[in-house]
Amino acid sequence: MLKCDFHTYVDSFIDKSRYEQLMSQKYQVIESFNKCDSIGWINVPDETLIQKIIDTATYIKKNFDCFVVIGIGGSFLGSYAFDKIFQNYFKSKDFEILYAGTTLSSKYLDELLEYLQDKNFVLNVISKSGTTMETTITYQLLKDLLKRKYGEDYKNHIIVTTDKEKGSLREEVRENGYISFEIPEDIGGRYSFITPAHLLPLALHYDLTNIIKGYNRGKRLLDEAYEYAVIRHLMFESSKVVENFCLYEENMAFFGEWLKQLFGETEGKNKLGILPMSTIHTRDLHSLGQFIQEGNKILFETFIKIEDSSHYIPYQKQSLHDVNNIVEDSVVKAHYSGGVPCIEFVLDEMNEENLSSFIYFFQLAAAFSGLLFHVNPFNQPGVEVYKNEVRNSLEEIL
Ligand code: PA5
Repeated sequence: MLKCDFHTYVDSFIDKSRYEQLMSQKYQVIESFNKCDSIGWINVPDETLIQKIIDTATYIKKNFDCFVVIGIGGSFLGSYAFDKIFQNYFKSKDFEILYAGTTLSSKYLDELLEYLQDKNFVLNVISKSGTTMETTITYQLLKDLLKRKYGEDYKNHIIVTTDKEKGSLREEVRENGYISFEIPEDIGGRYSFITPAHLLPLALHYDLTNIIKGYNRGKRLLDEAYEYAVIRHLMFESSKVVENFCLYEENMAFFGEWLKQLFGETEGKNKLGILPMSTIHTRDLHSLGQFIQEGNKILFETFIKIEDSSHYIPYQKQSLHDVNNIVEDSVVKAHYSGGVPCIEFVLDEMNEENLSSFIYFFQLAAAFSGLLFHVNPFNQPGVEVYKNEVRNSLEEIL
């Protein structure tokens, strides 16, 4: 369950009549949203597809000892961020999943290739376009390893998740008969959490029922998502052009990365948008805390608090988790006193259902926010500029 506080530490920074004006545009914004052609993510996949994902996950766990996801941006962040939150800090507890394709680091890939030498692994290459450079290079290197290890049987070690019709990966599926999944035409990368791009890796560690249930529950948060978008917009209009997501669990660091992609790519167009950043507390209070408290007043903050923890560590008269939350409340007050507006989200506990619902909430809020800026929330022409430049430079080898 999600509680939102958009007012206690915000109202003194906003113009009430402008707030009311933007709030009164809700139905127009929702109408524009409903007319967008990239909102396939508002619906969960049908049962046949969910069952295919679950069956494939069962097959993978039975036949391989390691699953390697190759993807970048919206083709990896959702499942990666989700999984990080529920993994142990020190002992890996589940079937092994490795992620690649987010770096061209020779050290990383050299070590990965060496590590995989002795593993019976299966690749899941995930790319909607099928042309992303980092994914393509990593896929080629790992496919070569598969060919050296397994000869013609390498084809049984590749799973492709890509567009239904377009792209070289789809062509390869047609030629080689790999197991494959589709990323629907009407769902873009950063909104693709509820597609096989993320659900297949997640099905190796989690019961998809909880994820689907939570995602559907997120739909009830439409009013809150709209109000959050309005408050963010008012922050922008008051020259608070940076949003800092404050996270109180180290394992949420990649959730911060997911949020940055979601909001950054959705709004950062036409010289508009709020620059998203994230800090992990209390660690970063000892680095960026000074700037936030006393530096340039370009920021507002969005705190994500988890009310209860399943890990009980007594500390004096409290639990350690209570102490963490008391610290969080104090930081909100301190930063507010330093001229930083603070929005607060409180989840009663961190579980799969709650997180999935929170993901839907943020996607909806980001889309509304893009519409309030009058930009297309679902494209990323700026990312394409760099992709094309790289494509031209590397034409001969890719
Ligand atoms: O949100 C987006 O669409 C992008 O960030 C993409 O996810 C990212 O660039 C990867 O693209 P692709 O899935 O085509 O490899």
